[in-house]
Order: sequence, then structure tokens, then C-alpha cells
Amino acid sequence: MAKSMFFFILHLTLFISVSSSNPNPTKLSSSLSSSTPLTTAHSVLTHHGFPVGLLPTDVLSYELNHTSGEFSVDLGRPCRLILPPDNYLATYAKKVTGKIVENRIAELNGIKVRAFFQWWGITGIKINGDDLVFEVGMVSAKYPSKNFDVSPQCEGKKHSSS
Ligand SMILES: *[C@@H]1O[C@H](CO)[C@@H](O)[C@H](O)[C@H]1NC(C)=O
Repeated sequence: MAKSMFFFILHLTLFISVSSSNPNPTKLSSSLSSSTPLTTAHSVLTHHGFPVGLLPTDVLSYELNHTSGEFSVDLGRPCRLILPPDNYLATYAKKVTGKIVENRIAELNGIKVRAFFQWWGITGIKINGDDLVFEVGMVSAKYPSKNFDVSPQCEGKKHSSS
């Protein structure tokens, strides 16, 4: 039972890596100047050891309690990402909250992925060497951090340039 659950989570976190490794090419060049974070919220991530790809590009504002690590990120609107190649769906709530300390995000609220006909809330993320460990309740799965080097874009931004 626990084993099959783990297998599920493995799949559902896999899509995140897939999406991050297939960023919008037009965004790639700007995002890849990775030493310059996209927003200060993204720099809070890197400051605590996390890659910027955990947050979409569309951050409106954020709050961080430097004492407790409690944070709140305002994306301005709910964010939806459809992730190739298997078309997994992920959503970020308009407001994502949690608690960030060195190498660990806990009490995470507002990030969900749809897999196996269910929504799964990501409750925590940890750094483990070169890997990110995603927690869904008591279950976790890890993926290389480098898959999250680029911040993804929310759906619904039409290519206004074309
Ligand atoms: C920040 O967190 C500390 C410790 O939990 C708490 O005492 C303080 O009231 C918080 N500050 C704000 C502005 O919420």
C-alpha cells in the first residue's frame, strides 16, 4: 500500500521536472541569467538554498517573516500550468503560504498537482544534496534540483508578440 502510494507520488512529482526542463524558449534567455533572480520572492528561495523554478514567473508581491520564516506569496491570480509531455495539471493558488528555513519549506499551502484523477497538495519541500524532496503528507519523492533552474510561466498569457 505504502509502496504504491510512493509510486503515485513519484509520477506526480516527475511532471514538475518535465515542465521545468521544457521552458518556454522565449523566456529561457532571460530566466537563465540565473544569478539575477526574477523577483525578490525568487531570491528568497535561492537565499535558502532552493532553485527559482519552484515559483512561477508571475509573482506580484510577497511577505516574509525573517524570524519565523513564515511567508506568503501573492501571484495576483490563481496560476495554472499544464505540463508536457503527459499534460499533468498543476495549480498555484493566488496566495501560496508556508514556512521557509535553510533547505526546508514546511507547512506549504497552495500548490497542487493533478495526477491519477486526484488533486495532491504539496505540503513540504526539502533539499537533500543535489535533490529536491517533495512531500505530500507522509509520502515523498525526490528529483534533481537542476530540473527547477528555470521559473515556469502561468497559463493564459497569450503570445502577444506574434
Ligand atoms: C514573526 O514571527 C515571530 C516568531 O514566530 C513572531 O513572534 C512575530 O510576531 C512575527 N512577526 C510578524 C510581523 O508577524
